[in-house]
Amino acid sequence: MRWFVKATLIWAAIGSVIAVAVVSLGLYNVSARQDHLPGVSWVLHTTYRNAVRLRAPDPSQVPDLSDTGLITLGREHYERACAFCHARPTETRSQTALSMLPVPPRMDDAVKDWEPNHLFWIVKNGVKMSGMPAWPSDKRDDDVWAVVAFLQSVKENTDAGTKPISQAPTPTSAPFDFEQKCATCHAADGLAFANKHIPRLDILSREYVEASLKAYRNGARQSGIMQEAASQLTDQQIDDFADFISSMDAQQTTAKTGENVDRGKELASRGEIKSGVPACSSCHGPKAAKKSPYYPQLAGQSRTYIEQQLKLFKEEKRGGTQRQNLMHQSVDGLNPDDISALAAYYSSLNPTSDN
Ligand code: HEC
Ligand code: HEC
Ligand code: HEC
Repeated sequence: MRWFVKATLIWAAIGSVIAVAVVSLGLYNVSARQDHLPGVSWVLHTTYRNAVRLRAPDPSQVPDLSDTGLITLGREHYERACAFCHARPTETRSQTALSMLPVPPRMDDAVKDWEPNHLFWIVKNGVKMSGMPAWPSDKRDDDVWAVVAFLQSVKENTDAGTKPISQAPTPTSAPFDFEQKCATCHAADGLAFANKHIPRLDILSREYVEASLKAYRNGARQSGIMQEAASQLTDQQIDDFADFISSMDAQQTTAKTGENVDRGKELASRGEIKSGVPACSSCHGPKAAKKSPYYPQLAGQSRTYIEQQLKLFKEEKRGGTQRQNLMHQSVDGLNPDDISALAAYYSSLNPTSDN
């Protein structure tokens, strides 16, 4: 027994010396030219696949991924944030991407083996030590699903994913990179091709746009999609975009009516004392005089977008400008029906009339 303990200790000591030598003398070749030692790739890959399966959310949490607005939004984000490694689904990867280890797989191949809940986990969390990045914001899940909707459309072959969406002509007054950086999602007229998941910009003030772009850039407002789009903008570019967006003429939209709209109107204009909900109109209009250019106009904004933002405020997942606290206080007393009615009401208004 004594000799066994002794031998174990000696082997442990030799092992430690080898490990220290490999680490401190740089003996392990970390070059991406050389594949891992035999077996190591298999161990890493199997660990990765099992870890994804263990941690992915339950399939019951997968939202409706056939929504074309969600797919388009995901595709546009993919163009900016993923295609330089994975290439567009039907195109060839660049030589630099092919020289990575592991090589980022082609997306039409990659999606074959995974279900949407697995893809969600991979896109949200990334893969350690592989070059596959995590999603830029960790608070929200809803914008990750947009990318999963796009990947699922690639899997089902319902979206070739090769070309950006068609564009309205960009006015000559637009800053030089607006068309390339912003208009593929927001459109040259700011109406976002009527995609309900993307806010219209034509109704927003210069001050609010500037403060919001800075809030995305410094992470105070979370959105994996807009944080990516705003992260590398200079102050000058933000100024130019804000000038241009606020110079857009608000577009007329047809006013809508309905029971939910009436309920929303009542709540927005009077508030509700018992649940502590203030009158939204005192800050957002349409009737009251606008108190501050930092209170965004909501008349005619997308219903889905308003509803989503109110939910995010309520769950403390929507940051924003220095005035964001005003909203956190306003949403505390709202229940899901109130939120739905308020979104129906504000989206029903025509921003160019007095309502
Ligand atoms: C800097 C390069 C890079 C970027 C940018 C990148 N990825 Fe990856 N991605 C990789 C690499 C490398 C892997 C392989 C990981 C592995 O096999 O361990 C990978 C793996 C994946 C996988 C799993 C594939 C499989 O076969 O298991 C998916 C899905 C994926 N990426 C989607 C995306 C999406 C969506 C984006 C954009 C939001 C993105 N990636 C951005 C490098 C990148
Ligand atoms: C890939 C699509 C995409 C691109 C590209 C994009 N946006 Fe956005 N934008 C969105 C989405 C989605 C939101 C809503 C994000 C959220 O939930 O906070 C948004 C929000 C905004 C907002 C806040 C609107 C509001 O009502 O609070 C502004 C301002 C904005 N974008 C301006 C820009 C500018 C300027 C660019 C170009 C530098 C740009 N966006 C590029 C999709 C995009
Ligand atoms: C005291 C003023 C005030 C009141 C009252 C108020 N808001 Fe706001 N609201 C704001 C401010 C300021 C913002 C901008 C937050 C930011 O991004 O910094 C905002 C943002 C929003 C947004 C996001 C808009 C966008 O374009 O992203 C929605 C939706 C909204 N408010 C709805 C409501 C509703 C519904 C009510 C009533 C229940 C309400 N607000 C009450 C000041 C107010």
